[in-house]
Amino acid sequence: MNTTAQSLTTTLTSRLAQAIAAAGGWIGFDDYMARALYTPGLGYYANDLRKLGLMPGSGSDFVTAPELSPLFGRALAEQVGQALAQTQTDELWEFGAGSGALALQLLEALGERVRRYTIVDLSGALRARQQQTLAHFGDRVHWASELPPRMQGVVLGNEVLDAMPVQLLVRTGGVWYERGVALRAEPSDPLQPGQGEPAFVWADRPTALRPPVEIAGEHDYLTEVHPQAEAFIRTLAERLQRGAAFFIDYGFPEAEYYHPQRAMGTVMCHRAHQADTDPLRDVGLKDITAHVNFTGIALAAQDAGLGVLGYATQGRFLLNCGLAPLMTQAELPVRAQANKLLMEHEMGELFKVIGLCTGEPWLATGFSAGDRTHTL
Ligand SMILES: C[S@@+](CC[C@H](N)C(=O)[O-])C[C@H]1O[C@@H](n2cnc3c(N)ncnc32)[C@H](O)[C@@H]1O
Repeated sequence: MNTTAQSLTTTLTSRLAQAIAAAGGWIGFDDYMARALYTPGLGYYANDLRKLGLMPGSGSDFVTAPELSPLFGRALAEQVGQALAQTQTDELWEFGAGSGALALQLLEALGERVRRYTIVDLSGALRARQQQTLAHFGDRVHWASELPPRMQGVVLGNEVLDAMPVQLLVRTGGVWYERGVALRAEPSDPLQPGQGEPAFVWADRPTALRPPVEIAGEHDYLTEVHPQAEAFIRTLAERLQRGAAFFIDYGFPEAEYYHPQRAMGTVMCHRAHQADTDPLRDVGLKDITAHVNFTGIALAAQDAGLGVLGYATQGRFLLNCGLAPLMTQAELPVRAQANKLLMEHEMGELFKVIGLCTGEPWLATGFSAGDRTHTL
């Protein structure tokens, strides 16, 4: 580990340790995840280390669809263009815009149909990168750190819901607990993480919280609930006066999410294009994510007055949006990368797209075949 990374994780670890001590020795995993990802200047999405890129050689940790292929944004533009026309709006809002790659692809594909493109991101470090990527669009592109009280247009979020903090629930010996984070009783040296034992340990507390569906059986079971992502959708629904929203992410409907056999939960870390399941180590240096419960997203949206336009696998959605003809016109390397967006064992099946709208639902191109809304 280089010295910048070492000093970053050391400082963040001691901040977290202080927060845990101040809270009486225990914080929920949602609090831990929020601090690990978003502590100003130190958290994974708030520090200056590179995150998104194609290969580990660039110092990046993971690749997302718009980074993988420009054809992702070109295909999505079909759906966005239809949504702009249908809702008679001319603004796009993108949450968590990463390097700005998707914004670039959409602005190029949609041209003057987009009067204003606003990026809402918690990450100040990524904003600088987005400003560079999008400089030539001038004042058509704006940045906001939170949503305005009223808005209209088409809203997008690629791999944003998975970055929202989750609470962990664990059933042990038939009893449910909330799993949180405590300080190791005798840390070897809490200021020297990465050398020896991590400073943090899991600690479970009795809870009245339960997963949204009963988990059949009595076996030990670890899972997550997503109050922050659902609150985010409710806030969006309250503020979106006219428009539509599309969220793309890995996840499942709740019957699959809370399947009795998925007993180890879905929390995952990403660093240098490797995945691991230990968020307590190397804090600030790796992404921490959880899969999305798309049923919870659809219900939160409906409760707050939005309709569901559709729900489909990413592969199906992109094919409905015309990715295949775009691929035939592309050079072989571009075609090969775009193919990963579709293939079931890559991003085609695990990644899903959910579409939401104000007012009456309309027939959205991306869900014209293979809509799985009935599975939510
Ligand atoms: C995995 S990255 C995805 C980046 C990009 N969308 C892409 O596909 O390359 C997750 C992004 O979501 C942002 N994020 C998480 N929660 C957010 C929220 N409540 N509002 C805005 N951005 C958020 C993070 O700061 C980060 O930039």
